[in-house]
Amino acid sequence: MTITVPSIPTNAAATEAAATAARGRFITFEGIDGAGKSTQIAWFAGRLAAAGHTPVLTREPGGTPLGEQLREILLHQPMHLDTEALLMFASRREHIARVIEPALARGDWVISDRFTDATFAYQGGGRGLARERLDALEAWVHPHLQPDLTLLFDLPVEVARARLAGTRALDKFEQQNSRFFEDTRDEYLRRAAATPGRFFIVDATQTPDDIKNSLEKLISSLCK
Ligand code: TMP
Repeated sequence: MTITVPSIPTNAAATEAAATAARGRFITFEGIDGAGKSTQIAWFAGRLAAAGHTPVLTREPGGTPLGEQLREILLHQPMHLDTEALLMFASRREHIARVIEPALARGDWVISDRFTDATFAYQGGGRGLARERLDALEAWVHPHLQPDLTLLFDLPVEVARARLAGTRALDKFEQQNSRFFEDTRDEYLRRAAATPGRFFIVDATQTPDDIKNSLEKLISSLCK
């Protein structure tokens, strides 16, 4: 087997390559806490890499040095609901500018553990923030960017809560009650029903291996 070592591109060559590269794809993973999406996401990125794509695995809140600092605050500090929504979008603005858009322009595939659907589901559905407020923030922060595909890991709230119980110290969101997660789940499902072409719903009650099997077909169709 011959291994070809690519030459290191100059800045000008890299810029030109980015200008001519086909835009990458933007794929997001969503679901209530305890759905098990995080255990699948690295495997999913690995399968895309094996198929010849360059995955960029990232997350929200977070994904940039500033975003990770905001994540720490968001997951542990009590705050006004408006502040929470604004900080989610502040982290997202940074993430889009520094990670998501440059990667898509290079032709890489961005795989993000959560994006704006999470804000509609958690701050809108779970906490009850008016949807119009979130629509306005979305229109400000990313008027022209939407995921190409969203994998929604869906399961009954009591199953998710049982999975979380006793695993480790729970963060501010994970400590919310069942009502909060029922409302969060309902909002995810409402959004999936409103844009079925973007969502792929995963039955997250399955075993991790069965979930991988059910994603194989999706990966094959994505990588055709
Ligand atoms: P994670 O544990 O899946 O990484 O997500 C972090 C937590 O942040 C999770 O409980 C969901 C919550 N979250 C929101 O409430 N709104 C958002 O916009 C995002 C991205 C996450």
